[in-house]
Amino acid sequence: MLIRYKKNMEKIAMGLLSFMPEGKDVKKLQQTIKEYETNPDWQLFLWKEEDVTGAIGVKIENDINAVVQHISVNPSHRNMGIGKKMVEEINKMYSDKYAVCADEFTQNFFNKYNDSNKSQQRD
Ligand SMILES: CC(C)(COP(=O)(O)OP(=O)(O)OC[C@H]1O[C@@H](n2cnc3c(N)ncnc32)[C@H](O)[C@@H]1OP(=O)(O)O)[C@@H](O)C(=O)NCCC(=O)NCCS
Repeated sequence: MLIRYKKNMEKIAMGLLSFMPEGKDVKKLQQTIKEYETNPDWQLFLWKEEDVTGAIGVKIENDINAVVQHISVNPSHRNMGIGKKMVEEINKMYSDKYAVCADEFTQNFFNKYNDSNKSQQRD
């Protein structure tokens, strides 16, 4: 399930975000985490079953869009559907109030499952 990020999860969250293509710069990564901690429009969630294995981050823009800007799964747990489940959960959480979309870094993956969600709902 998705749980909301808290300060005591900082290390694991940074580890997961570091798998993003732009996550190699440690200073930038620290700024990103700080923004999630302090900016109410930036909301970070972690995927937790027994362990924490994934992260997904959303930025609320102009009170209209919920933009998925980080998606990352621990390499040992990839290709098991965790990324897909996180996208689905974010859609459920935000789509009543916001237009859910993705930024340039996450759109490839996000669109893959956002589209398949829509076609599954139509079936
Ligand atoms: C992208 C990522 C979050 C997917 O997580 P996951 O839990 O393995 O995803 P799922 O198991 O739900 O889905 C796996 C499918 O997504 C595909 N996929 C993986 N990365 C992808 C990407 N960047 N763009 C599009 N599809 C991608 C896989 O090929 C696989 O496809 P298949 O089922 O047709 O074989 C994970 O690979 C990751 O953390 N990558 C590094 C971080 C990153 O680059 N994030 C931005 C991605 S745009």
